[in-house]
Amino acid sequence: MRTDTGQVIHLADYRPTDFVLERVDLTFELDPTETKVEARLIFHRRPGADPTAPIVLDGDELTLSGLLFDQVELDPSRYDATPEGLTVRDLPESAPFELTITTIINPEANTKLMGLYRTGGIYCTQCEAEGFRRITYFPDRPDVLAPFTVNIIADKDANPLLLSNGNFLGGAGYGPGKHFAAWFDPHPKPSYLFALVAGDLGVVEDTFTTMSGREVVLKIYVEHGKEPRAAYAMDALKRSMKWDEERFGREYDLDIFMIVAVSDFNMGAMENKGLNVFNDKYVLADPEIATDADYANIEAIIAHEYFHNWTGNRITCRDWFQLCLKEGLTVYRDHEFSSDQRSRAVKRIAEVRHLKSEQFPEDGGPLAHPVRPTKYREINNFYTTTVYEKGSEVTRMIATLLGKDGFKKGMDLYFDRHDGQAVTIEDFVKCFEDASGRDLSQFSLWYHQAGTPLVTASGSYDAAAGSFTLSLEQMIPATPGQPSKEPMHIPLSLALFGENGGKIEPTSVDGAEYTGEVLHLTGRTQTAVFHGIGTRPVVSINRSFSAPINLHFDQSPADLARLADNRLALAGVTSRFQEV
Ligand code: SER
Ligand code: ZN
Repeated sequence: MRTDTGQVIHLADYRPTDFVLERVDLTFELDPTETKVEARLIFHRRPGADPTAPIVLDGDELTLSGLLFDQVELDPSRYDATPEGLTVRDLPESAPFELTITTIINPEANTKLMGLYRTGGIYCTQCEAEGFRRITYFPDRPDVLAPFTVNIIADKDANPLLLSNGNFLGGAGYGPGKHFAAWFDPHPKPSYLFALVAGDLGVVEDTFTTMSGREVVLKIYVEHGKEPRAAYAMDALKRSMKWDEERFGREYDLDIFMIVAVSDFNMGAMENKGLNVFNDKYVLADPEIATDADYANIEAIIAHEYFHNWTGNRITCRDWFQLCLKEGLTVYRDHEFSSDQRSRAVKRIAEVRHLKSEQFPEDGGPLAHPVRPTKYREINNFYTTTVYEKGSEVTRMIATLLGKDGFKKGMDLYFDRHDGQAVTIEDFVKCFEDASGRDLSQFSLWYHQAGTPLVTASGSYDAAAGSFTLSLEQMIPATPGQPSKEPMHIPLSLALFGENGGKIEPTSVDGAEYTGEVLHLTGRTQTAVFHGIGTRPVVSINRSFSAPINLHFDQSPADLARLADNRLALAGVTSRFQEV
């Protein structure tokens, strides 16, 4: 992967492509060192675009070996090809046209593991974020979506399996010793979701019947002999499919869903449409040696990649600045899944420990960046805990602010309104505003301001007035490029307890919106007065870590012990504190 293109890319410079891609037909003639890729791309000029603009396609270490325009060889005066790009001039003003681009690539020599490469004797791809341009010249950006047809031709003995995205169209022999397979993915997708796998692997098969009664074939491909170790992954996949139907109303949308486990893989796993590719450590579990944590990881990552089918694939990112649109939301969804499948409290503690040990230091150091950055040099450096984990926490806060029903309405609107589109964080947030009627403009600062907010709290009880006053102050530290910050909308889950452990419900609250569970901190400083408080309360703030903040709140050891005790009691545990 290039780590420095020397060029800074700015969110503010975004503009749509001049050409709309209508469809993609790819033919691969696989060979370990000389794979021929023929890409037939149908484009038309976007209405309103410059009628003389050339088309500029991305490439990365490519060599052009053939170029046809509407099936006729193109005069070299009309194009320029370099390893990094293909520019074609004198194109029709509005009529659709077809480019047929041939490249020869060397999967064996591709040790960057981006694009098409070889691992353990199989052909495999990784195209997120910008790997497709290592396969063919293409508008390799997430806002260019098209249906893909893929034909794969290869030696039959070495590659009994020929897999790509979508539904299997058919296959047959293809000359001596060879065969081919054809796949069609009807769901328009960007190139980063393309996948191809070919080789000889073992398989575990099952089926899943969706909520509308369609039967989906499920296949998990692993190295021969390792099939029994994929049983748990298959079980986790079926539970994920069911959960997404029940919790988010999301049904799977192809006839087949495949997972391939490979031993060389840059990322943990990848959500290619209908053909997820995994680092095999997140698929394989040997019951003799796998730990509880191994099982929990496999379940979470299988779920994560499957959930991307709706949050990432059906609705994708307009540009890579919006990475948290798919990642933060999908991490939130996999966290919720694991919480529902296992212990919510244990899961939440693990999430918060991970956030505090990995993301907080990132947010407090020289690499601090907003959940939705505004510039990058190399997008691969932005697959960070801030984008993923803090992105998930921001989604969780929307759910906390709007409540379960409000959040569901917002998500339903998002799926309805943007299915098949490449969108932005603003589009996402707007769905929750429209569904709830709540203004989330201040809340949106969570996407734009880096740094972990510090909330300082102090309380005082007035027995004569029966009121408790909570003073809050928020400070967001300076981070690179952001010396001063605006106050954020921080949802603090909060409860007051009597010394005997019972919850105290205030009769009214002044100075802050309080829903009975969540106190909304919106000012730089804010004083909330709780009325109708008959006894000195013990305060529990930021319950369940409702906001990803640092909290300074001086509480006596006795009060902290009471809070711990309450939590144990809620969890049905007898505490030692009670016994002594
Ligand atoms: N898109 C991949 C994922 O997060 C990259 O790791 O699932
Ligand atoms: Zn993801």
